[in-house]
Amino acid sequence: MATVIQISDIAAYDGQDVTVRGWLYNRTDKGRLQFLLVRDGTGVVQCVAFKKELPENVFELAQSLTQESSLIITGTVRADERAPGQPGGFEIGIKDIQLVQLAGEFPIQPKEHGIEFLMDNRHLWLRSSRQWAILRIRATIINTIRNWLDDHGYLLVDTPIISPAAGENTTTLFEIDYFGESAFLAQTGQLYNEANMGAFGKVYCFGPTFRAEKSKTRRHLMEFWMVEPEMAYFSLEDLMAMEEQFVSAIVQAVLQKHRPELAILERDTTHLENIKPPFPRISYDEAVERVKKAYAETDDAEKKADLAIEWGTDFGAAHETSIAEMFDRPVFVYHYPTAVKAFYMQPVDGRPEVCRSVDLLAPEGYGEITGGSERIFDPALLDKRIAEIGINPASYAWYLDLRKYGSVPHAGFGLGVERTVAWICGLPHIRETIPYARMLNRLYP
Ligand code: 4AD
Ligand code: MG
Repeated sequence: MATVIQISDIAAYDGQDVTVRGWLYNRTDKGRLQFLLVRDGTGVVQCVAFKKELPENVFELAQSLTQESSLIITGTVRADERAPGQPGGFEIGIKDIQLVQLAGEFPIQPKEHGIEFLMDNRHLWLRSSRQWAILRIRATIINTIRNWLDDHGYLLVDTPIISPAAGENTTTLFEIDYFGESAFLAQTGQLYNEANMGAFGKVYCFGPTFRAEKSKTRRHLMEFWMVEPEMAYFSLEDLMAMEEQFVSAIVQAVLQKHRPELAILERDTTHLENIKPPFPRISYDEAVERVKKAYAETDDAEKKADLAIEWGTDFGAAHETSIAEMFDRPVFVYHYPTAVKAFYMQPVDGRPEVCRSVDLLAPEGYGEITGGSERIFDPALLDKRIAEIGINPASYAWYLDLRKYGSVPHAGFGLGVERTVAWICGLPHIRETIPYARMLNRLYP
């Protein structure tokens, strides 16, 4: 066996004999020439079997290989700018093939398949180049999130997934039986994050969160990953200043590392190149006025129905898209009505009907990617708000403690990983942004 290499490193082996271990992605039969597209997880390379140069049994093996057969190929690397693959530009002249397993007929053929079929076969669909590109970008997004926060003085402090009380609201809870007691899967790590903030100043939690969202949309999953920074002595303005740096760093890291993946996804990156601070900031009041204007200006009856809005209601997808279309980069919308936001948000001084919240809306119709706020730090007000949402205050006794012992103004937000992946990759639906999507009608595979 020659040196075993990863396909991603092939450029360093021009002219040398190498061994690649992987799977057959596709085969083109040209009679005396067999073109085998081989993938190994790091990339794809074209391997050429030439009848004249190979023992008969090796050439026959090449001819008989089925899609996704696992194999070990040895041959000589040669530069050829026409060679397809990833990174491409090199091919391997086959000297030997070792078959590991001849695959049965692979369900996913190189042709169009329906989305439900592909989702049923998600465990196999992950092998396609498009999914390869998306999930590699996802990994970089996650990595950049961690590195950026670690490098800027935020401490990772984990929060529990099994919780005794609602973190966000009572309508989307997944309830579980905890030895006879009722418990819930975490909708957010925020409340624990606030305790951790009191101990460490600037913290974040990062993990899966769960919401029984009984709606089928392009933006909602039942299980999604959220990073939640929480900072002591932070105002709404501090929050926006930090978020725009953070989100820009994520986008720029993907642009820097993943041009090939973005090309596979046919992502037009012109919008993404723009993603640098400062991001525009508008109040909810102004956003409503802007939507009303867009409503008045459109002749499209369907669009009109979607854009109808009165002050006081939360934005739907169409409203968010309409607002985002007015800007060339993500836009902050702050001071939402208190009534449509979570119980812990700090009301605006002298105007308690709105709160010190801020959502960040992504461009190109991808909607809200972050949601955050200043938190109520007055114990009496927090008591009152907890009573208003009608949940058991006893479950929140520990949370109320945080306001008794050195309460400070503080703020934080959550960024949804999957929505961020959908936006950066330019995907029409959130289901491809996570390896195994959990949706209203899908729990398999
Ligand atoms: O706006 P949300 O609900 O905020 C919170 O949970 C706060 N406790 C966060 C905090 O302040 N620490 O959710 C935050 C983000 C949204 O902006 C969105 O990106 C994502 O989480 N998100 C979802 N992503 C996919 N599927 C769902 N069902 C989601 N719900 C929220
Ligand atoms: Mg939100």
